Amino acid sequence: MLNVAVLVSGGGTNLQAILDSEAKGGNPHGKVTLVISSKEGVYALERAKNAGVKSEVISRKSFANQQDFDEKLLNTFKENKIDVVVLAGFLSILGESVIKAYPNRILNIHPSLIPSFCGAGYYGLKVHEAALKKGVKVTGATVHFVNEICDGGAIIAQKAVEVLDGDTPESLQKRVMEQAEWELLPAALVDICKQLDC
Ligand code: GAR
Repeated sequence: MLNVAVLVSGGGTNLQAILDSEAKGGNPHGKVTLVISSKEGVYALERAKNAGVKSEVISRKSFANQQDFDEKLLNTFKENKIDVVVLAGFLSILGESVIKAYPNRILNIHPSLIPSFCGAGYYGLKVHEAALKKGVKVTGATVHFVNEICDGGAIIAQKAVEVLDGDTPESLQKRVMEQAEWELLPAALVDICKQLDC
């Protein structure tokens, strides 16, 4: 059984999707044992508490530089014997030492079909704003491994979602979450845990 850390910064609906899948017995090879938030007071921390999962706030702002932040993250992973890391709306950047310590063991969910609308500056609603501005008729979500290039790691899974006339960034975000993210991310995590646990 692998120990999974989920890193969050906001509402935590993707964290909830993972916890719900686990509660239904969906992940026989992994368990969320730690939630790390980059911000105090976010609803994702409530979700962790409600599920009885240990949580910690590790904010980049509390550290003088990226190296110290990475060291704190790595030590926390080590103390909690973390095997797999999921970025579920985590808005801080992970440095090289963290990425190197978990090769093909860090997953990220991104709310577009990579390589569209991804990379530095594309996160949360901004991604959907850019998709609507471009006028694409199809968008979606991508789960990928994290490497040193922002949103550039190997793609694990993607799902397309229709853009509808009259969509706002908020309505599109909601549809992408409901139709793609909350399905793709728990499923990808189950697969990775199965592969690593064998
Ligand atoms: C999700 O839409 C996720 O795909 C996105 O942030 C949102 C977090 O929502 N992530 C990124 O934009 C990463 N570049 P949640 O806190 O409700 O899971």
